[in-house]
Amino acid sequence: MSESIHVPLESLIATAASGISSLPAGAPDSTRSFDATSIATVTPGAGKSFYIETFGCQMNVHDSEKVVGVLEGRGYQQVEKLVDADLIFYNTCSIREKAAQKVFSRLGEFRGTAGESKIIGVLGCLAQQEGEDIFERAPWVSLVCGSASYRKLPEFLAQLEAGGRRIMGLDLDTEETFETDLTRRDNPFRAYLTIIEGCDYACSYCVVPHTRGPERSRRSEAVLAEVRRLVDLGYSEIQLLGQTVNSYRDSGPRKLNFVDLLREVAAVNGVRRVRFTTSHPNDFTREIVQAIDETPALCDHIHLPVQSGSTPILKAMLRTYTRDEYLEKIDWIRAARRPISVTSDVIIGFPGETESNFEATLSLLDRVHYDGVYAFNYSPRPNTTARSMPDAIPETEKSRRLAVLNEYQRKIQSATNEKLIGSTFEVFADSRYAARNQWGGRTTCNRVVNFTSPRENLLGQYLQVKVTRSGPGSLSGEHLV
Ligand code: 5AD
Ligand code: SF4
Repeated sequence: MSESIHVPLESLIATAASGISSLPAGAPDSTRSFDATSIATVTPGAGKSFYIETFGCQMNVHDSEKVVGVLEGRGYQQVEKLVDADLIFYNTCSIREKAAQKVFSRLGEFRGTAGESKIIGVLGCLAQQEGEDIFERAPWVSLVCGSASYRKLPEFLAQLEAGGRRIMGLDLDTEETFETDLTRRDNPFRAYLTIIEGCDYACSYCVVPHTRGPERSRRSEAVLAEVRRLVDLGYSEIQLLGQTVNSYRDSGPRKLNFVDLLREVAAVNGVRRVRFTTSHPNDFTREIVQAIDETPALCDHIHLPVQSGSTPILKAMLRTYTRDEYLEKIDWIRAARRPISVTSDVIIGFPGETESNFEATLSLLDRVHYDGVYAFNYSPRPNTTARSMPDAIPETEKSRRLAVLNEYQRKIQSATNEKLIGSTFEVFADSRYAARNQWGGRTTCNRVVNFTSPRENLLGQYLQVKVTRSGPGSLSGEHLV
């Protein structure tokens, strides 16, 4: 995945979201069980409200931004509290069992009451994975729509507005990825922008190819036009998204590759920072490092999930690279003129993972010195080949290994960050913590820096901050004025 879902910790936290989305319609052929005579009715447009909660990665957060845009475009109003809403949407994640359970427990809260006064929709990866079974488990749900069918959302909404019940959209949309003017971005400082959807890899543990469908890239003209619009809206930081973002292949006539696109996005007037996630090691080239070295607006950070440091386990995971091939790519990054930070995802306790396979992962952490690692216990998922593999690792053992790895990595990060005390970084201020009179922001390397300043109104500004203290997950400092 590249995981896609991949992603930073913040994305693993369920967020009451916002967002929005997009557009156009599709044919109603993927809807079933549509009975215009039944239950809760939402009349089109004004006066109706919706609540949306997002689970999972940045791609999901951004999908919700698209959904919010479509809903607002039809006159619905977003509310912060579920009790105030006529429509309730859960944009779901199914990457691990726990994420799926959380959604079912949310839905369970409506047992016996819903369907009468509120319309409930399940969107995203769990919807795609479970399909009609969601109606079985939670009959009060009215809409089940997979992330590869968002194009059809306006149509589904129209059916809901007409009194429709049990609408299902599970087509794996193979058209250009769904992104539009309607997208209502929630994050005022960083604009997410999907450049490629779906995944053509087949990692044996991963639901993404099943839930998000085959890989398809947007046209570069559309991407660049959107970047220019984002700049006009005031954004200076753009984050390009895709499960395997670096396998981007322009579907338009210019046939740009990923590096060409990176350079062109970075060259748009007004763009100051460009990030991208998630990169697949297999598609990671020296040219990406070279582009970062040569282009100030390309941020000094690469998220390059390794998943395991053991070649036999990588083989069983169908990751398509060996430990040594991965490390060779790390060496390219380390040889850059700019100090590029590297983060990773790791899966612990894949079937058959021996103690020595696990130690190989620890030794890889030692070798790479990541700036951040998101480690997860392996979770068997439906529609994946790993699910039926023998030699499952007991949960208690997975958790033991996870704790060992996290502690190991914590020490590595503490040592790395300690060396940064005394350095000065450009920080993009994106948070205010009034209670402790501090501001927060990120460096180009994506390090979190909390800092004090004698000035006010710093949000959205690029500032020079001197680091005075460090911890494993963040730095503290003072704004140099
Ligand atoms: N179990 C545990 N972790 C998983 N991931 C993907 N599938 C699974 C699974 N079945 C992790 C990978 C991926 C991240 C987003 O989630 O590390 O990079
Ligand atoms: Fe990433 Fe592999 Fe999943 Fe594709 S199948 S999203 S490459 S982990």
